[in-house]
Amino acid sequence: MDTKNKILELLERNRGKSLSGEEIAGLLGISRSAVWKAIKSLKNDGHIIVAVTNRGYSLSNDDNILSVAGLLPYLSNNDLASKIYISDSLESTNKTAKEMAINGYEHGTVVIADTQTSGKGRYGRHFYSPPRSGLYMSFILRPQFLDLQNTTFITIATAVAVCKAIQTVTHKEPKIKWVNDILLDDKKICGILTEAITDYESNNIDWIVVGIGINICTDDFPNELSQVAGSLFPHETTDGAIRNRLGAEIINILLSSNDWAINNKIYSEYRNRLMLLGKVVTVIEPNGTYEALAADIDTNGGLIVKKDNGEIVTLSSTQVSVKNT
Ligand code: BTN
Repeated sequence: MDTKNKILELLERNRGKSLSGEEIAGLLGISRSAVWKAIKSLKNDGHIIVAVTNRGYSLSNDDNILSVAGLLPYLSNNDLASKIYISDSLESTNKTAKEMAINGYEHGTVVIADTQTSGKGRYGRHFYSPPRSGLYMSFILRPQFLDLQNTTFITIATAVAVCKAIQTVTHKEPKIKWVNDILLDDKKICGILTEAITDYESNNIDWIVVGIGINICTDDFPNELSQVAGSLFPHETTDGAIRNRLGAEIINILLSSNDWAINNKIYSEYRNRLMLLGKVVTVIEPNGTYEALAADIDTNGGLIVKKDNGEIVTLSSTQVSVKNT
C-alpha cells in the first residue's frame, strides 16, 4: 500500500480522533512533509479530513467514501484486501465481475462500486444504485465441488451472510423474503443476483458471481419503488464508516470458508429469518393465482406450500412469485 493509503487506513482506525503529523510520521516511518502531502492529496480525492491546530488530523464522521484502506481495519484477514477492487462508477459490478471471472480472476475477488449506471436486478429488472448511499458489491466464487442444483444454496448462504453482517454492524434484525430479498420493516433493503457459468459435460460450476445491492441511506427512490423499497437508515444521518464496515463484514462472513457444500446450519438460519413460513401467501403463476399456506423450504430452496384442498406443492422461484396476503 502506498503512503497515502497507509495514512487513510490509520485515520480510519482512529476515526473521529486526532493524530498529529508527528505521530503519523513516527508510526509510518516517513517525514512530516510526506504526511502533509498525502493528506493534501486525500483531501483532493474528496476525503473530509479535519486539521485542528496543535491536535492534528482526523477523518470526519461525515466522510463516507468507500476504499480498500477504509475496509482494511474491519477485515478479519489482511490478505482479503488484495482481491478487492473499488471503482467510483461502473455499469454493473456483476458485469465487471463476470468479465474478470472470464479473464481468470480468482475465488474471493470482490468488485465494489460507489454507484452503478446500469445496476442489474433479477428477471432483467434495473437495480437503483445512486452514489454515496448504497453498497453495491459482487463476489467471484469458484467453488470446488458444486453442481448446478447448488447455486440456490449459494444465494441462500449469501442472504444469511448479509443478514448476519447487518445485524452485527447495526444491531437491526432484517428478515428474508423468499427467495432472497432482505427486508427491514416490511421494505426491501437488499437484493441478491447470482449468475453462474457451468461446464455442461461435468455439470460442475466453473464460476459464480454473486451480486449484493444494499440501500443504506437511500431516501430518494423513484416513484415506482417508493412503496416497496426501503433503507437500512432511512432519513437518518449515519456514521460515515458504515459502508466500509458493512462491506468488510459481508466479505469476512462470505469468504471465511471455501466450503459451499449444502449445510444444514445455514438452512436453519435461513428458515429462522424467513418471514413467510406459517403464513398464507398468494402464489402467482403464469396462468393464475391461488392462496396457500407457506409450510417450509426444501434443501434446494424450494418453497413447500399447502393448498386449501390439502395438496402439497413445492414452488421454485423461477416458476412463481409469492406475496404476503
Ligand atoms: C434483485 O433484487 O432483483 C437483485 C438485485 C441485485 C443488485 C446487485 S447491486 C450489485 C450487483 N451488481 C448488479 O448489477 N446487480 C447486483
